[in-house]
Amino acid sequence: MADTETFAFQAEINQLLSLIINTFYSNKEIFLRELISNSSDALDKIRFESLTDKSKLESQPELFIHIVPDKTNNTLSIIDSGVGMTKSDLVNNLGTIARSGTKEFMEALAAGADVSMIGQFGVGFYSAYLVAEKVIVVSKHNDDEQYIWESQAGGSFTITRDSGESIGRGDKVEKVIVSDRVVDSPCCLVTGEYGWTANMERIMKAQALRDSSMAGYMSSKKTMEINPENSIMEELRKRADADKNDKSVKDLVLLLFETALLTSGFSLDEPNTFGNRIHRMLKLGLSIDEDSADAEADTDMPPLEDVDAEGSKMEEVD
Ligand SMILES: Nc1ncnc2c1ncn2[C@@H]1O[C@H](COP(=O)(O)OP(=O)(O)OP(=O)(O)O)[C@@H](O)[C@H]1O
Ligand SMILES: [Mg+2]
Repeated sequence: MADTETFAFQAEINQLLSLIINTFYSNKEIFLRELISNSSDALDKIRFESLTDKSKLESQPELFIHIVPDKTNNTLSIIDSGVGMTKSDLVNNLGTIARSGTKEFMEALAAGADVSMIGQFGVGFYSAYLVAEKVIVVSKHNDDEQYIWESQAGGSFTITRDSGESIGRGDKVEKVIVSDRVVDSPCCLVTGEYGWTANMERIMKAQALRDSSMAGYMSSKKTMEINPENSIMEELRKRADADKNDKSVKDLVLLLFETALLTSGFSLDEPNTFGNRIHRMLKLGLSIDEDSADAEADTDMPPLEDVDAEGSKMEEVD
């Protein structure tokens, strides 16, 4: 590990990494598709080269992709015997030369695109940071020595000549150290596998001559995923336990739901109600006591569904 060189990520790539790491997004497993697709591309490349020069395969005649999970060390290795990367490939492809897709992908995300579209922008590799605290790429190209690329994001990556065991050929080993990244948000919304995405729902709502008959089944059923360890959630649970009909708890839960709708890219059916709720919170924060506040609260709140009643109906059917 003597000759470790440190490189700064190109500014846009750095921005992209922060976005990937800090965006709350639940389909994190798409990273696997991206890394396997890179391995597959690398295998295609070496096979293509070998058509004109058989000796290119000598360093490793077998073409494979191995996926090796290690639960004890919390790592996942994706190993391929593809073309591999030289030191300059590692420096250029994984960090210092931003493709045009880098910026385009960030713009698309801001406009409501889904993170899973990352592969269409030529920056699929970085999706590893959806799940990884640290990514290590060990690579051996026929024309160069074996190198280790390593980064925990945070602005820079390092490249070290690898004096360890030779991997023959092929990026290649990618080690992803999977972490349960501490999630800061109290909750988020995920939609069903089928149905419109948040963005599509918005587009469809905006159609002038829309036919709303489809909205019923295409607007996806949303699932509110909560983070039980979040302090907001803990406090809400305590208060709800203390008094099931606590109005301010109901108000806060609805506010949480509507905020999750917004942050997950959906639009609100009744923005005014949301506004009123926020205003009430503002008044509360500013310690403005208004008697009318309570009266308003009741009108903005949908009646609670009677879960017990539904349960007994189901039993009757049975
Ligand atoms: N397993 C690998 N073996 C060899 N080279 C790789 C490997 N993984 C990544 N690379 C190199 O890193 C580059 C960047 O990968 P990245 O997934 O970000 O983009 P891409 O594969 O070119 O585009 P896309 O993912 O959109 O198909 C690749 O073009 C390739 O040159
Ligand atoms: Mg790729």
